[in-house]
Amino acid sequence: MADQQARTDGDKRSTEIPAIRWEEPPEGPVLVLLDQTRLPTEEVELVCTDASALVEAIRSLAVRGAPLLGIAGAYGVALAAARGFDVAEAARALEGARPTAVNLSVGVRRAQAAYQDALASGGDPTEAATAALVAARALHRQDAEASALMAAHGLALLDELLPGGGHRILTHCNSGSLVSGGEGTAFAVALAAHRQGRLRRLWVDETRPLLQGARLTAYEAARTGMAYTLLTDNAAGSLLAAGEVDAVLIGADRIAADGSVANKVGSYPLAVLARYHHVPFIVVAPVTTVDPDTSDGASIEVEQRPGFEVTEVAVPHVPVTGAGGGVPVAPLGTQAYNPAFDVTPPELVTAIVTEEGIVSPVTAQALAELCARSRQV
Ligand code: MRU
Repeated sequence: MADQQARTDGDKRSTEIPAIRWEEPPEGPVLVLLDQTRLPTEEVELVCTDASALVEAIRSLAVRGAPLLGIAGAYGVALAAARGFDVAEAARALEGARPTAVNLSVGVRRAQAAYQDALASGGDPTEAATAALVAARALHRQDAEASALMAAHGLALLDELLPGGGHRILTHCNSGSLVSGGEGTAFAVALAAHRQGRLRRLWVDETRPLLQGARLTAYEAARTGMAYTLLTDNAAGSLLAAGEVDAVLIGADRIAADGSVANKVGSYPLAVLARYHHVPFIVVAPVTTVDPDTSDGASIEVEQRPGFEVTEVAVPHVPVTGAGGGVPVAPLGTQAYNPAFDVTPPELVTAIVTEEGIVSPVTAQALAELCARSRQV
């Protein structure tokens, strides 16, 4: 971790530590991340001084979640440019750090295009680096704005689908301010309901194997004061059968042109359960998560992660590479199937909520119209 330094500040409360920020100390620009592998027990910042440190942080999930990966990728390009590294090489490495969340490519490409455009129009490398940083900051700001709009649209949809209020929402993985320039995607909708006194309970799936629900969503929920309850992923079925869930709300890492939704592994079984129990299954994601170049669910590349994440329990630190360091929960040498995501077909998705509006029913045509509208803005 040559250029990735940990920084701790015992006095700092988490509410003051954003998931990501750009800093310009006298030694040169840096990207400061809240290390999400250490939450909820420690609030530690990681300081990246070059793109390769950021690539490592992305792979280890110190920085994660689709919209935040886009923002991080854009800042990574700006960092490489500002520090005089090969920008094309840095962009390639950043884009390849994780395959499923399309936002990462979107962010990297936006900053890289700004850099190249500045050079092409006669700017020097310093001006081009500034252009990349401006693009990264714009994406960061746009994501915060998108988050607020998704929260408003999502809450309106909940109120329409579930008249009477007192929503009991089940969510999976983590989709709050830890993954966003704002308050997130699905979690932002629950938070909006909570603020208006219309959230009865947020049910939080623990999200095996890396426990993003238990470590991160419960951490975010606790800070807001909302009523929340943690459950093992396996308990969702009986909870739905008991009639304790009014809606399932999740984020997305990539939405294919046909409306198939890739999200944290365990999302698809929830969609099947929700359909069986006649409960709305709602996906909340910014338009940058819709990938018109991926035609269908089968074409989405699902990241396969190392088996030790399943055969060992290593909480709260997620090892960067190699075998474990955690507590073994399976016999030595056990093989593990560890896809990071799964894909839910459009017919199981009640609605996709974006900053540009709601798609329901989810069809290729409705998604294409949404993307076209968004590009015109
Ligand atoms: O592997 P992670 O932790 O990056 O996975 C994150 C998720 O699957 C989120 O649910 C997703 O990014 C959508 S929320 C912004």
